[in-house]
Amino acid sequence: MFIVSVSIFALLSFSLPRPVTSSVAYCSNQDYESGALGISPYQTYNAALYSPVQINYALPPDDCPSNNQVSGYFFFSPLGAGVEMPGGVIMNPNGTLVYSAEALNFKGESLLRGTVSYQGEDCLAFWVSDGLIVSEGYGSGYNVLVNSSYDVVLNITTSNLTVGADVHELLITSNNTAVMPAYVAETGDLSSFGGPQDGYLVNGIVQEVDIATGEAIFTWKSLDHVDPSECYAPIGILYTGNGTVDDPWDYFHLNSIQKNDDGTYLISSRHCSTLYLVDPAGDIIWRMGGKNSSFTMNEGSGFSWQHHARMHGSGVISVLDDGASQWEADIPYSRGLLLHYDETSMMVSLSSERAPFNRTTSTSQGDVQMLSNGNSIVGWGEMPYYSEHDADGDIVWSAQFAASNEITAYRVFLQSWVGRPSIPPSMSIANSSSGGNVTVYAWWNGATEVTSWQLFGSTLESPLKTTTLTTVSKTDFETVLTYTGSEYAYYQVVAMNGNGQTLDFSNFTGLDGTTFGKADNQTVSAPAL
Ligand SMILES: *[C@@H]1O[C@H](CO)[C@@H](O)[C@H](O)[C@H]1NC(C)=O
Ligand SMILES: *[C@@H]1O[C@H](CO)[C@@H](O)[C@H](O)[C@H]1NC(C)=O
Ligand SMILES: *[C@@H]1O[C@H](CO)[C@@H](O)[C@H](O)[C@H]1NC(C)=O
Ligand SMILES: *[C@@H]1O[C@H](CO)[C@@H](O)[C@H](O)[C@H]1NC(C)=O
Ligand SMILES: *[C@@H]1O[C@H](CO)[C@@H](O)[C@H](O)[C@H]1NC(C)=O
Ligand SMILES: *[C@@H]1O[C@H](CO)[C@@H](O)[C@H](O)[C@H]1NC(C)=O
Ligand SMILES: *[C@@H]1O[C@H](CO)[C@@H](O)[C@H](O)[C@H]1NC(C)=O
Ligand SMILES: *[C@@H]1O[C@H](CO)[C@@H](O)[C@H](O)[C@H]1NC(C)=O
Ligand SMILES: *[C@@H]1O[C@H](CO)[C@@H](O)[C@H](O)[C@H]1NC(C)=O
Ligand SMILES: *[C@@H]1O[C@H](CO)[C@@H](O)[C@H](O)[C@H]1NC(C)=O
Ligand SMILES: *[C@@H]1O[C@H](CO)[C@@H](O)[C@H](O)[C@H]1NC(C)=O
Ligand SMILES: *[C@@H]1O[C@H](CO)[C@@H](O)[C@H](O)[C@H]1NC(C)=O
Repeated sequence: MFIVSVSIFALLSFSLPRPVTSSVAYCSNQDYESGALGISPYQTYNAALYSPVQINYALPPDDCPSNNQVSGYFFFSPLGAGVEMPGGVIMNPNGTLVYSAEALNFKGESLLRGTVSYQGEDCLAFWVSDGLIVSEGYGSGYNVLVNSSYDVVLNITTSNLTVGADVHELLITSNNTAVMPAYVAETGDLSSFGGPQDGYLVNGIVQEVDIATGEAIFTWKSLDHVDPSECYAPIGILYTGNGTVDDPWDYFHLNSIQKNDDGTYLISSRHCSTLYLVDPAGDIIWRMGGKNSSFTMNEGSGFSWQHHARMHGSGVISVLDDGASQWEADIPYSRGLLLHYDETSMMVSLSSERAPFNRTTSTSQGDVQMLSNGNSIVGWGEMPYYSEHDADGDIVWSAQFAASNEITAYRVFLQSWVGRPSIPPSMSIANSSSGGNVTVYAWWNGATEVTSWQLFGSTLESPLKTTTLTTVSKTDFETVLTYTGSEYAYYQVVAMNGNGQTLDFSNFTGLDGTTFGKADNQTVSAPAL
C-alpha cells in the first residue's frame, strides 16, 4: 500500500501543523507526542524557504539529540494530509536538514527512494508521478536519478505498457538495467470473487528494461502465474478497488522486487501475503507464506500484508511483517523480521524480530534495512516512526517525524552520501542590516561537505575585490553570519570544507538588493568529487 492521491496535499483544517524555528531533534518532547504541537511540527529558517519536518526522538538515544553512533543520513519522504513540505528529505541523525528535494521542482508528486549505484556513481533515486493513475494505492510515473551535483542523469520508465513505472520499487542492476513494477488494469470475469462479470483487475507487472536502449528484456505478469483465488484482499473494501473500470480490483499489490545475481527475482505481493521466487523464464520457483506456501512456516516466521522483502546471501530474508491492512489486523504489532529458510527441508524459521516503539501496527508501507554491523533500521511506513535495532532485534532508539498516522514515509533508509550541488550556495541579507551592522543568512541545499562559512565584503568602487569579514562554523541547514565594522556595499558567502578548502562561492548581493555572479578569479580549491 502506498498512498498516492491529490488529496494528500490538502491541509487538514482541524489540526494545523505548528512551525518551530530550525532545531535539532527533540528528545521525548511530550507536547510533540501528545499532538499539542500539531500533527506535523516543522522547522523554518530565517531566509531559506524550506520547512522540513521536525524530528522527535520518542525513544531517545543516550546522546540525544546527536545520535552520534549512527553514521550516514536518513533518506525519506514524509507524505500525507498536513505535511507542510511533502516530499524527499535527507536528514542528519540529529534532525537537521541536509537536503530538500523541493528544489528539483518536479512536475508531479514525487518520492525520494534513497541512493542507488548507477554507472559506478552514487545517485539519488526519485519516483515522479506522470498523473496517469490517481489511486490511493499505486501510481504511474518515471524514475529519475540525480548525481552528486543534483543534476538529472537518468529518467526511465516502463516500455510498451499502457502505464509507466509504479512507485513501489526501483532496482538498478550491475547489468545496466532498471527493474520496475507497473500496475496495469485488465478486463476479467470477477463474478466468482463477488465482483462484476465484465470487471477489471490489476495485473502486477515486473519489468526489466535495458537502460541503454529503453527496451524491456523481461516482463512478468502476475495474472499469468498467480490466480486471484490465491490472495486475500476482498473486492471493494477500502483501497482494494471494486472491480470497475474506474476502480479495478488490486488483487495482487506488488510492493517489492529484488533481482539476484543468479537472474532470479524475489517478488512481494502484499495482497497474497506471499513472496514469490521467479526464474529468468518467469516461472515460479517457490512461494513463501500465503495460502499455498512451498515452505513450512515455523513458529513466529509467518507474515502478512508484508513490505520490502530482501534476500541476503543464501538462506536469509528480511521483511517487514505489517501484519495488518486497513481492514484487518492479524497480530498485535508489526514486526521487522529476519528469517532463515532452507531449500532442502523447505522450512522457514524466525532468526530475530524487531518491534516498534509503542507496539503499534502499520497498516501499510515500511521497510527493514540490515546494516553491515548486524544492526538494522526499520521504517514503520504508515506509522511516522523509524528506529534502530541491535543484532538481536532489540530497539535502540526510535524517532518520530509526525504526531499522526495520517503522515507516512513509504521507506526510510540510512545511507552515506556526498553532495556538492552544481547550483552555487544561497545567501540573503537580513532586512535589519544597515551601514556596518550586517546579518547574512547562508545555505546550500544538498551540500554535505560544508563545515564553515565565510562572509566577504566588497565596495562600490571594486565590487569583485573581496575582504574576509568573518568565519562561522556550520551546525544547521542555514547559518547566520553577523558582521559589525566598516561599511561594505556588497556581500558574498563562501562554503568551506573541513580542510579549509573552498567548495563554492555565492553570488554577490548588495544592501540595495542588486546581485551579480562571482568573480572569474574566484576559484574552487577543493578537489573535484
Ligand atoms: C506511546 O503510548 C503511550 C500510551 O498509549 C502514549 O501516552 C504516548 O503518547 C505514546 N508515545 C508516542 C511517542 O506516541
Ligand atoms: C552530474 O551530471 C551533470 C549532467 O550530466 C554533469 O554536468 C556533472 O559533471 C555531473 N557531476 C558529477 C560530479 O559527475
Ligand atoms: C522525464 O521524462 C518525461 C518524459 O519525457 C518528462 O515528461 C519528464 O519531465 C522528465 N522528468 C525529468 C525530471 O526530467
Ligand atoms: C508492445 O506490446 C504489444 C501488445 O502487448 C505487442 O504486440 C508488441 O509486440 C510490443 N512491442 C514491443 C516492441 O515489445
Ligand atoms: C466503484 O468505485 C468507483 C471509484 O471509487 C466509483 O466511482 C464507483 O461508483 C464504484 N462502483 C460501484 C459499482 O460501486
Ligand atoms: C547479468 O547478466 C548476466 C548475463 O546475462 C546474468 O547471468 C546475470 O544474472 C545478470 N545479473 C543481474 C543482477 O541481472
Ligand atoms: C500451489 O503451488 C504449487 C507449486 O508449489 C503449484 O503447482 C500449484 O499450482 C499452486 N496451487 C494453487 C492453487 O495456486
Ligand atoms: C525582508 O522583507 C521582505 C519584505 O517584507 C520579506 O519578504 C523578506 O522575507 C525579508 N527577508 C528577510 C531575510 O527577513
Ligand atoms: C550597530 O549595532 C550596535 C548595537 O546594536 C549599535 O550600537 C551601533 O550603533 C550600530 N552601528 C551602526 C553603524 O549602525
Ligand atoms: C579578482 O578580480 C578582481 C577584479 O576582477 C580584482 O579586483 C581582485 O583584486 C582580484 N582578486 C585577486 C585575489 O586577485
Ligand atoms: C548536527 O549533525 C551534523 C552532522 O553530524 C553536524 O555537522 C552539526 O553540527 C550538528 N548540529 C548541531 C546543532 O549539533
Ligand atoms: C547568480 O548570478 C548569475 C550571474 O549574474 C545569474 O545568472 C544567476 O541567476 C544568479 N544566481 C542566483 C541564485 O541569484
